[in-house]
Amino acid sequence: MSAVFPFDLPFATAMYVALYLATLVIHVAFMSYVLAGTGYVAAMVLFGRGKGDPVAHILRDWLPFALGGAITAGVAPLLFLQILYKESFYTANLLLFHRWMAMIPVLMIGFYALYLAKSKAIEGWPWHARSAVSLVAFACFAITAYSWTENHLLGLDRGEWVQFYGSGHSAYVRGSVFARAGMWIAGAIPIMAVIAGWQLRRVGVDSDSDRSSLRRLALLAIAGSIGAVGLGLAYAIAVEQPKRIFALDSMAWPYLVIIALAMAVQVVAWGWQWRIQQLDRRALTAISLALLGAVFATAILREALRIASLDAEELFRLHQRAAGAGGVSMFALFATINSAIIVSCLLMVRRGLRSKPQNQE
Ligand code: HEM
Repeated sequence: MSAVFPFDLPFATAMYVALYLATLVIHVAFMSYVLAGTGYVAAMVLFGRGKGDPVAHILRDWLPFALGGAITAGVAPLLFLQILYKESFYTANLLLFHRWMAMIPVLMIGFYALYLAKSKAIEGWPWHARSAVSLVAFACFAITAYSWTENHLLGLDRGEWVQFYGSGHSAYVRGSVFARAGMWIAGAIPIMAVIAGWQLRRVGVDSDSDRSSLRRLALLAIAGSIGAVGLGLAYAIAVEQPKRIFALDSMAWPYLVIIALAMAVQVVAWGWQWRIQQLDRRALTAISLALLGAVFATAILREALRIASLDAEELFRLHQRAAGAGGVSMFALFATINSAIIVSCLLMVRRGLRSKPQNQE
């Protein structure tokens, strides 16, 4: 597979991969906000800054909505995933079994913790109780992220399936799982930082605490990006030799260049905003576009590695059969109807927020 992926795939596979990637990128935006946002709030509460920090305030307010978004936006790639990699996905689910199913109660606990953290009741609670609530929320989403990574890598490790089943284990513990989950957690930080940056800009950067929040976001975004690249390299070292060689195949270079450029744009744009002590629309737009490119590039490389790790010819046949089953037009119809409903809901909320007096927000 040396042509630039996914342009060298048969039509049916390329169509499902494209739909999968487009929907996964939306999921990544929401889940990053939740993952890094809960981490930010937990750190602020632990260091005693939970109440005065404008970004922590914005995050607490929006996190329950963002979690709803992450879960809803997870359903679409989940559907395409099942068409694309039926056998490896279901096998990993079955092998992990209780560990995998535990994600549902964990997400429910996380959801309640977010609402509790946002409620008026918690404001009068002592520091250790507020810290515990925000740490529980973060832990729930970090466990969820880890579980998706664990499931993904076990699904690719076909050679391990029989032994894993025989051993009765319910956790797939490998250095590569930690490195890769760490990469997603670190990579979530710059995505959260730019979304929170847009939100803070909307409220205004006027006081000293607004400016110190801005500086914190800039620092976190840059540190998170460097951390994600470092852990990505650690992951590349931890995976077996054939996959590592594949990752450096000529097809990977355009995407690695996009990721490197996105890093550079971020450092420059956040550094500049730090210097002027303001959140600038053009800088935030540049960072948003750079991150969009980096997430797409990462998601494409991730898929190229997966297809190369599985029996590609067998997968292509399955996709061809699925495309001929007649579901595509139904999918297009419902995708259009549902997108229209989601957009109209968002417009309604936006109108409602605009007509609300500033001091009630
Ligand atoms: C806040 C909660 C969640 C977090 C933090 C989260 C995090 C993640 C992460 C880190 C990955 C990438 C795994 C990897 O490539 O190593 C991922 C993939 C994915 N997530 Fe989520 N996730 C969350 C909730 C959900 C939910 C509820 C669903 C389904 C309804 C979902 C659907 C997916 C799908 C389909 C993938 C792609 C898996 C694959 O291709 O193997 N996620 N998620």
